[in-house]
Amino acid sequence: MKSKNSILSFCSFFLISIACIGQHSLTFDPLKYVVQTQEFQGKTVKVRSFEKIIYVANPTDTTKQILNIYVPEEYFNGGTINGYTASNAPIFFPNKVGGYMPAQPATFINAQGGGGMGGPPSQAVVMALSKGFVVASAGARGKISPIGKAPAGIVDLKAAVRYLKFNDKIMAGDADKIISNGTSAGGAMSTLLGATGNHPDYEPYLKALGAANATDDIFAVSAYCPIINLENADMAYEWQFNQIHTFKGRGGEGTLNEAATKVSDELKKAFPQYVNGLNLKDNKGAKLVLDESGEGNFKKLVKTYIVASAQKALDSGVDLSKHNFLKIENRKVKSVDFDNYLVYMERMKTPPAFDALDNKSFENNLFGTKTIENQHFTAFSMQHSTATNASMADKQQIKMMNPMNYIGDNTAKTSTHWRVRHGAKDRDTGFAVPVILATTLQNKGFKIDFALPWDKPHSGDYDLEELFDWIKELK
Ligand code: DHB
Repeated sequence: MKSKNSILSFCSFFLISIACIGQHSLTFDPLKYVVQTQEFQGKTVKVRSFEKIIYVANPTDTTKQILNIYVPEEYFNGGTINGYTASNAPIFFPNKVGGYMPAQPATFINAQGGGGMGGPPSQAVVMALSKGFVVASAGARGKISPIGKAPAGIVDLKAAVRYLKFNDKIMAGDADKIISNGTSAGGAMSTLLGATGNHPDYEPYLKALGAANATDDIFAVSAYCPIINLENADMAYEWQFNQIHTFKGRGGEGTLNEAATKVSDELKKAFPQYVNGLNLKDNKGAKLVLDESGEGNFKKLVKTYIVASAQKALDSGVDLSKHNFLKIENRKVKSVDFDNYLVYMERMKTPPAFDALDNKSFENNLFGTKTIENQHFTAFSMQHSTATNASMADKQQIKMMNPMNYIGDNTAKTSTHWRVRHGAKDRDTGFAVPVILATTLQNKGFKIDFALPWDKPHSGDYDLEELFDWIKELK
């Protein structure tokens, strides 16, 4: 009997230990920090750094599913910064996702690029802290097999938001005021966070990870050049760049051959039907459309944003006189010759820009599974695939990576406030993609501050002062 009892108690100890080993605590530990300082804009920014906090109970990658949280030291002495206190400071939530790859959280010391494909170190974290924000940055899994395929990255960031909300009472900062920020694929993540708050589609994935028992809607979105709407972005790209047959980009440079030109023509031709089906309205209530040749008031709207961008540059003293594609009279930019503007921009990608016919793009890799490395995600590329045994991604997987599917879905709590920037010289995706996002948000009653900053290539975090001013004004 004695031995039976001891076996039982050994077994229960063993089982409890297994459960404990597998489960990470989701309660924030306010004592686990180091103090760090950094000189910034002539002042010393002193913070408590809580780094590498595992934010789910059952992580699959403890090098990525981690949060860095930084809190201005003043907040532990009852201080205020910029009108904020420990209890009401908004939480700035930048991610460093680029190329849909796995990402580390952003750091206060030794900051790296803001996301996207490279770029200079971002000052977003230190600047946010200097302005009194609490900063929380989560790492996330990315498209690497077997654990990182879509929707792993967005599920991780949502889980990190849940951690912040779950611990709101014991942490500095107001988790009802989370503002996400990201660039390119990281911008896509930011828009997804904003669009899909609390949507049940993600629930099984969050549950499997042991995400904290809290909501995941966020207050506001900042996104630079979000690479979104992937299943429609090939058409948008060719609608814009169809006439440009030379390309220059990450994959090298060259001239489109006859087959590629034909693909471009077909994708361009399919775009109007997509746009017309969206039922978008301009600010006077007129339906935004394109005719069969791709002309119409939707194109006019895109050009309006380019003209506004050039006007802002001109007003700030930029010399635009060399740009023959701009018509400028009395310091007013009157119009843009779009065809010649595109010659100046240059094409970067070959058609299809995202769902590559050889099934080898970043995005094909994103839409793989545990056992299939790459998959198509558009009917067009599936039909025209040149890859052997190529398969199509699951519908639901594609849906969950596109914020456009959730804006206006009543089961999602979409952020009220949005700020989207897409460089006027960014060729990683077509202008139509962010213009459709901005217009959809406007039409559905959300607040969106949208612009195409002049001459900016594919990049982010280049106007942080303006970004933080915008956040400061949000109510
Ligand atoms: C990124 C850029 C791309 O052109 C793309 O297709 C996907 C992601 C990026 O910079 O993150």
